[in-house]
Amino acid sequence: MISKATIDTVFETARVEEVIGDFVNLKRAGSNFKGLSPFSEERSPSFMVSPAKGIWKDFSSGKGGNSVAFLMEHSHFTYPEAIRYLAKKYNIEIEESEQTDQEKAITDTRESMYLVSEFAKTYFHNTLLNSEEGKAIGLSYFKERGFTNETIKKFSLGYSPESWDAFTKEALGKGYKLEFLEATGLTIPREDKPFDRFKGRVMFPIESMSGRVLGFGGRILTNDKKAAKYLNSPESEIYHKSKVLYGIFQAKQSIAKLNNCYLVEGYTDVIQFNQAGIENVVASSGTALTPDQIRLINRLTKNVTVLFDGDAAGLRASVRGIDLILEEGMNVKVCAFPDGEDPDSFAKKTPYDELVRYLEDNAKDFIQFKASLLMNEAKNDPIKKADLIRDMVGSISKIPDRIQREIYIQECSRIMDISEQVLQSTLAQLMQKDIAEIGKKQKQAEGGAPKAFEVVKNDNPIATEKVDVLYRLERKIIEILLLYGNHEEEFEDAFHRANEEGEIVIVTERKLYKVYQRIYLSLQEDEVELANPLFRGIYNDLIAYYHQNESFTIEQYLMQLHADFAQEVTDILMEDEQLVLHNWVGQNIFPKSKTETIAQEVSETILTLRWYLVGSLIEELKNSLSSEPGSDNTESLSLVMDYNILIHSFSKKLGRVMSRYY
Ligand code: CTP
Ligand code: MN
Repeated sequence: MISKATIDTVFETARVEEVIGDFVNLKRAGSNFKGLSPFSEERSPSFMVSPAKGIWKDFSSGKGGNSVAFLMEHSHFTYPEAIRYLAKKYNIEIEESEQTDQEKAITDTRESMYLVSEFAKTYFHNTLLNSEEGKAIGLSYFKERGFTNETIKKFSLGYSPESWDAFTKEALGKGYKLEFLEATGLTIPREDKPFDRFKGRVMFPIESMSGRVLGFGGRILTNDKKAAKYLNSPESEIYHKSKVLYGIFQAKQSIAKLNNCYLVEGYTDVIQFNQAGIENVVASSGTALTPDQIRLINRLTKNVTVLFDGDAAGLRASVRGIDLILEEGMNVKVCAFPDGEDPDSFAKKTPYDELVRYLEDNAKDFIQFKASLLMNEAKNDPIKKADLIRDMVGSISKIPDRIQREIYIQECSRIMDISEQVLQSTLAQLMQKDIAEIGKKQKQAEGGAPKAFEVVKNDNPIATEKVDVLYRLERKIIEILLLYGNHEEEFEDAFHRANEEGEIVIVTERKLYKVYQRIYLSLQEDEVELANPLFRGIYNDLIAYYHQNESFTIEQYLMQLHADFAQEVTDILMEDEQLVLHNWVGQNIFPKSKTETIAQEVSETILTLRWYLVGSLIEELKNSLSSEPGSDNTESLSLVMDYNILIHSFSKKLGRVMSRYY
C-alpha cells in the first residue's frame, strides 16, 4: 500500500498538462491546452486540459478528471499503478504502508502478468550484462551490430540463456506463479517440465506508450535454418500485436516535438535510428500496419514518413497498408533506401547529418510516390494502367480533406498522363460509395447517449424551457460550490424585528459565511432539494465533503469521487473551456455574464431558484383550482396571492438577472 503522504505529494507535484502531454499532442488555447481526443477517432480537437483547475475533459466521449483519472482511463492503470507511475515521473520516493492479505489477493491477473513481464525484462537485461554466457554471446552480438551500452540500456535489450528452463526456474524461485509465466508466453507449458520460450535468444522488450512491458521479441543467434529468426510473445491478455508499436515509449516525446513519425519495419531499424540520433521512429513489428497502430501515432502527430527497404517486392506490399494512414487524415510521406539497404544498415553506416539530409531529400509525398512507382510497371500495359488509375483514385478518395484531394488529382493527372476529368468522375463514383457506407454506420450508431449541449427535442416547447431553467440553475449551484465553496464572503441577512413603537420592520445585517454554508442554509430554509438526481447526488456529496474537510481542492475532491459524479463535475468545470473550444463566446452564442462578486452571484442564483420554484408553485395551484360549482377555492387563491407578492419582491430584486435564464 502506498502511504497517504506519498499520494498527497504526488497530487501536489503532478501537472495535468505534463502528464497528459506525454500521450497527447497538446497545443495552447488561451490559458488551456487542447488536442485530439485519445478516446475517439476525431480530426478536430475536442480534448481540453486546464492547468489552472488541474483537470481534463474529453468533450467527444464525456470523460474527464484529474491526472490519475487520465492514466486510469488512457493507459488502463489501476489507481495505485497511476500513483506509482506519477511518482516515478516526478522522482517522488514511494513510502509503503503494510499491505493486507486481502489487498494482495485483489491484484488481478493482468497485474500479475505485467509484473512477470517486468521481471523478465530485468532478468534478461541483467543476464546480458552480467552473466558470462550473456556477455560472451548476447552482448558481443549487439556490439557487433554496433549498439552502444547506452542504446542497450535505453531499450533494455537482454539475453535469454541457452538452457531449457533457466528463466522459468529463476522466476519460480523468486515467487512468480507458473500460471502467469505461461499466460504471458514466457514459459511454454508441459506437464512434467515447463520450458523457456526464448531460450538462447537476444531479447527485445516491447513496451506500451507508458513504458510497461507487454511482450518480447527474441532473435536467434545461430544459423539454424529450421528455427525462426525472430520469435515473438503470443497474443495475451496484455499483449495485442495489432495495438502496439515497437519503440513508441522511447519515441513519443520526440514525435510530438518534431511533429513527424518515422515508421520502419523492425526492432533493429528502430534501435539503429535511435543510436544515430533520430528518436522519432517506431516499428509495426512484422505485421501490416493496423488502424489501432495508426491511431497511436495520430495522438502524437499528423505526419508519418514510412521508410522502405530497397527491394521493390517489399515495397509494393507495404504500399497497400498506407491507404489506412490516409484514411485517418494523416499526411503520409515515403522514403526508400538504396538497393539492398534497410533503415538499419543504412543508418549504421551513415553519419547523422548525412542521414537527416537523405531523409529530407528522398521523402516523397505518398500519392506521388505510388503513382510514379506503379507507372513504371504499367507504362506499356493499358489494362494494368486502368487498374492503376482506379488504385490511385482509391487512395485519393481516402483523404478527408477536399482541397488536398483536388491537388492530388492534378498531380496524378500529370504523372499518369490522363485527363483530370476522368480522374474526377472516378473519384466522385468512389466517394459516393464511401458516403453511403458512412451513412449506414451513422444510422447504426444513432440512439447512443446525447452529446453535451445537444438540444433535447420535445413536443412542448414551454415544458422544455422550464426543465432547462431549473437544470441550469441547479448546475450553476454545483459550479459555485465547486469553484468557491470554501470562500468566505459577506452576505446580507434580512430579519423581521419589532422596533421601539412595536412595529414589525425589516432590518438587514451583513455577516461572513462560507459560500457552501450560505447555499446549504438557504436551500434548507426553503426546504428545497435539487430536482436532477445527478446534481442532487453531487450536491449532497459536496456539502458532506465541505463539512468534513478543512481544505478543498478540485483535485483532492475528484480523487475520492464516484466516476459518474466525476464525469458530470468535470463537465461543469470545463464549460468555459468548451466555449473556448468552439469559439462560442467569440460568436456570441453564449455571452458570458458579468458578476461583480462571488457573494452577489450566490445570492442571485439562490434568489432565481426561489423565484423559479415559487413560480412553479403558483402554476400548480392555479391548475388545481376547481371549477366545479360549489367548490371552495379560497385557501388556494389566498396562497396564490401570497406567492404573487413574493414573486414580485424577487423580480424587483432580480430584475436584470432574470434574462440570464430566459
Ligand atoms: N523481422 C521479424 N521477423 C522475421 C524477420 C524480421 O519480425 N522473421 C523484423 C525484425 O523486427 C527485424 C527487422 O524485421 O528487426 C529486420 O529484419 P532482418 O534484417 O531480417 O533482421 P536482422 O535482425 O536485422 O537480421 P540480419 O542481421 O540478418 O539483417
Ligand atoms: Mn537486417
